[in-house]
Amino acid sequence: MFAAHVDRWESEGRVVLFDRSTGRSVVLDPSSLENVTPPLLDRLARLGMIEGRPLQRAGLIVCRSRLPLVRPDRSELWYPHPDVHTAGGHAFVALKLRPESLAVWRAINDARTVSQVANAVGLSVDAVLDELGPWLAPDAQLVQLRETRPPPADRSLWRFVAAPRTKSARTIDQHGADGATDLVAYHLAIDDGPVHFDDRETTVAHAFGLAHPALGGRTFGGALYDALAGEGFWPPGGPVVEVGCGDGEMAEAVACKLGDARYVRVDLSPGLLATQRARAPQTPGVLGDARHLPLRNASVARVLSNEVIADLPAVPVGPGDDGPLVREVRSRLARYGLPAPAFRRWYNLGAWQFVEEIARVLAPGGRAYVSEFGSIDEDPAEAVQLDHPEVGIQFGELAAVARGCGLGARVVRLDRWMGFDDAARQLWRQHHMALRAMSRAEGHHLPARAWTPESLAAALPFPVEGAAFVPVTEPGAGPVPSRFFALLVDRPRQ
Ligand SMILES: C[S@@+](CC[C@H](N)C(=O)[O-])C[C@H]1O[C@@H](n2cnc3c(N)ncnc32)[C@H](O)[C@@H]1O
Repeated sequence: MFAAHVDRWESEGRVVLFDRSTGRSVVLDPSSLENVTPPLLDRLARLGMIEGRPLQRAGLIVCRSRLPLVRPDRSELWYPHPDVHTAGGHAFVALKLRPESLAVWRAINDARTVSQVANAVGLSVDAVLDELGPWLAPDAQLVQLRETRPPPADRSLWRFVAAPRTKSARTIDQHGADGATDLVAYHLAIDDGPVHFDDRETTVAHAFGLAHPALGGRTFGGALYDALAGEGFWPPGGPVVEVGCGDGEMAEAVACKLGDARYVRVDLSPGLLATQRARAPQTPGVLGDARHLPLRNASVARVLSNEVIADLPAVPVGPGDDGPLVREVRSRLARYGLPAPAFRRWYNLGAWQFVEEIARVLAPGGRAYVSEFGSIDEDPAEAVQLDHPEVGIQFGELAAVARGCGLGARVVRLDRWMGFDDAARQLWRQHHMALRAMSRAEGHHLPARAWTPESLAAALPFPVEGAAFVPVTEPGAGPVPSRFFALLVDRPRQ
């Protein structure tokens, strides 16, 4: 029934029909093929996938995948290999292009037909079809031939039919008693401080660590300082403690604005403490755990903690479960008036313990800012793409814990509260990954930043064609800011 140029394979219980003559595909439930209905038959016929119903390829419009980038100085096309899909994304590979091939690639604009491309580059239709052949194959998926022009934001030009992204492997030391996440060993072993947030876990603070139009030309640290100023956070009137300072960029920015105020860093990672010290040498650093702060009762004026609490233990708890950490969760549910679990889900025990510690160390009149990804009222979910299990925060419960500890508490959506401009643009995540691979190939390190066309041009030591910039509400080098919330708490003066 199917034309000879249609490949058929199974992936994750679905059947993929892939037409090598047009680069187009159909993904079906296997049962649809046992009883092919007239609408499906009609669709397959329109795609030219049925035997005896070939399409006239010269008149089809050539469309380019949005994923590849061209390195013009080397005549290379870099594209994500459909078959190599790891937890970190597709592997980008280079395809050397002859001058005629590069001319064909550049002439493709989602509007020209095959014969119009041939005219534009001075080749015959057959020669252009020969060029397109390998690009139409399932192991490339660089172009598609279509009867009609695609809408500009057509997602099918962004993606492949490919194996799904694999989940990141978990090591035995990343879960402890009762199945709780445990990242102590992970943090003690960090030895790549200066590049850790480029290569392994990019935070919003790191992605926007360079001055960015989305923050009115400020860095994340500068914009956070201003947002906190709007809350009457400054001057602190006593010591400021940042817990979980990463590479120290925020400590550098905020401590510099605070001038003489004492700014202390607490972190669980000796490697990151050293990186922070190099960036912000005027701020003392202390090795310590957010759940047991090495600080005296009522001794601190301000606590800051940015994108840390998803690293603290989360415990899966269901109705019949028991164990030491499960009991820690249950006793807090009762203490803070939160409902007992109706089914198994994650509870942010470590984040709750940190809030209890904040309540202990804040002096009367003290205040704290604690941000992380998560939601107000949805059950926490694990981020599976990272090389360690981080569990998002249920901020409604976190605020209830803070109130139960006698603190005033408010939850804000981070991007709104900090005044992110949604329309500002950053390099699209797929092209950040492509440029990172292209940079690595020649020993250059490309930091994971929310690049703009201008900042990218200054950071990249080679020319590139095709880089796409998307609104900051879409994925860039770091996580999407709109998925983040902040808990703002204050300890009453009396
Ligand atoms: C995801 S990074 C965030 C870094 C930085 N605040 C930022 O926003 O880019 C988490 C930081 O918290 C630290 N950390 C993780 N678990 C911790 C714990 N239990 N106590 C103290 N610090 C911890 C890590 O070493 C790291 O510096």
